[in-house]
Amino acid sequence: MDNLSEVLKILEGALQHNVRKAADYASLLADKLEEKGETRQAAMIRQKLARVPQETFSPASLSHSLPVDSESQLHTLDEERPRLKDIELAMPKNVMDRLNEFIDSVRATEQLAAAGLRQPARLLLYGPPGCGKTQVARLIAAELKFPLLTVRCDTLVSSLLGQTSRNLRRVFEHAENRPCIFFLDEFDALAKSRSDEREIGELQRVVIALLQNIDVMSPETILIAATNHEELLDKAIWRRFAWHVPLTFPDANLRQRIWALKLGDRINPGTSTELLAELSEGLSGASIEHVAHDAIRSMILRGDTNVEEIDLLRRLGLTIAIARGLRLDSLEREIAFLREWAPQQLVLRKLAKYYGISVRQINNAAKGRGNANKHRKPNSARPTT
Ligand SMILES: Nc1ncnc2c1ncn2[C@@H]1O[C@H](COP(=O)(O)OP(=O)(O)O)[C@@H](O)[C@H]1O
Ligand SMILES: [Mg+2]
Repeated sequence: MDNLSEVLKILEGALQHNVRKAADYASLLADKLEEKGETRQAAMIRQKLARVPQETFSPASLSHSLPVDSESQLHTLDEERPRLKDIELAMPKNVMDRLNEFIDSVRATEQLAAAGLRQPARLLLYGPPGCGKTQVARLIAAELKFPLLTVRCDTLVSSLLGQTSRNLRRVFEHAENRPCIFFLDEFDALAKSRSDEREIGELQRVVIALLQNIDVMSPETILIAATNHEELLDKAIWRRFAWHVPLTFPDANLRQRIWALKLGDRINPGTSTELLAELSEGLSGASIEHVAHDAIRSMILRGDTNVEEIDLLRRLGLTIAIARGLRLDSLEREIAFLREWAPQQLVLRKLAKYYGISVRQINNAAKGRGNANKHRKPNSARPTT
């Protein structure tokens, strides 16, 4: 039978006297039928739904019913409906293939189940910060046209530690009762390995509660979890996820694509993305995006239509310096670093013009002599990143 998962959810809603759940899944079923060209059947379902009291669907009642931590009164879940046009991601082909496979198998749940290949839709994304995990979850939600319900792990781990398991139960219940993608972001906060020394008793309870909640979830509920610290995850947690996708720092090729994506048509025609890719080695997609956005902001404030190459390179250089743990706390040090980092692009003459000081001062600074700060014209001050 087609659309069995929706029918089962509608039945579940009815048996639990949960009008909202039944209606939400019926509405999803109508959408799916319409997509397949079954407009008459879709219309029949929608006619029935039109009789459900309106407040059941209104956004106000939706956000009102999001679970709240009783101690802090903060929402433990965020709801968002991401749109494809708002998501700019450049991913390696093998990662994209794997994500598409996940999306396709969610779409083909019934077909796969009919062939005895029922696999819970559970995806674990892992890798260093800023490599696109949260964006991937948004991308999947946008592709599948589901709302993304993101668990705020920080508020979930309540100040009243004993409250955490109850909070967990509530967010899982909420997510189970409506069509959505349930996203546990920064998952490690919850799922720290049971061998962790600190707060071992409480963490143990939280992990056990987490496992139990995952185990009783219906296999149709789409679950995505993301972590920066895969080494902290308990083996029992890994096993609960059929899909594991690692995201890593972008290689040169990918960095070039990210630069092109983030600068778009605001890139200076003379600036090569290949050079930017080379100079940004070791940076995450998030850091590249940050530099690009800063440079675009400064372009707009100057009233220009293209990003100035020297401004972009300087911002990139300062980001690299921070990544290397350097403290460039004077103009001399900044100039000396930039000269050493990209001597071919950041030539003395261009730097002198940019900073509004003489070539000789730039040269002295680059050699660790003199005091360029002293002679700096006050009106040439540039915003620092
Ligand atoms: N590969 C990438 N391509 C394009 N943008 C990226 C990429 N990786 C990260 N970003 C950007 O960096 C920012 C942070 O990414 P995010 O998904 O929050 O990273 P994470 O969750 O892994 O820490 C986002 O705005 C995202 O668009
Ligand atoms: Mg994230």
